[in-house]
Amino acid sequence: MNADSILQKLDAGRAAGESLDGLLRQAVEAIESAEDRYDWVGIYLLEGDELVLHHYIGRPTEHDRIPVGVGVCGSAVAEERDINVPDVHAVENYLACSLETASELVVLIRDPGNGAIRGQIDLDSDRPAAFTADDEREIRRVADWLGELFSD
Ligand code: SME
Repeated sequence: MNADSILQKLDAGRAAGESLDGLLRQAVEAIESAEDRYDWVGIYLLEGDELVLHHYIGRPTEHDRIPVGVGVCGSAVAEERDINVPDVHAVENYLACSLETASELVVLIRDPGNGAIRGQIDLDSDRPAAFTADDEREIRRVADWLGELFSD
């Protein structure tokens, strides 16, 4: 995956005056359509000590609010790190979004000014070990772009 075209779309959206909500939506759509193996893509924003699902594409999930420390998503916040899970069934603390999901990648969105965590991009795949180091790097570019929107 190469994030160049995603960042170009987001740049164009921002220049056209798109809202924060609209830009988050655009990011989810652009990421989801970038690769067939990205079966579920969502953005959670951190509200207090809870992650709240804002936009997503894929199968509906009951996990629209996840406490910090719970699941892969909440663990990423608690441990202040991106998490790439090649086999979700091997993770004790995993919250199943759907039975078909085999692997997951969580990349944190941070305020570039102070590094504060504002949310995350969450990707699920029905394929095991779907997410490469290349995916991690390119999704991080999108997360960093979005982080600028939360800059104080
Ligand atoms: N699997 C995540 C929950 C979010 S759903 O996959 C959309 C987790 O363990 O935190």
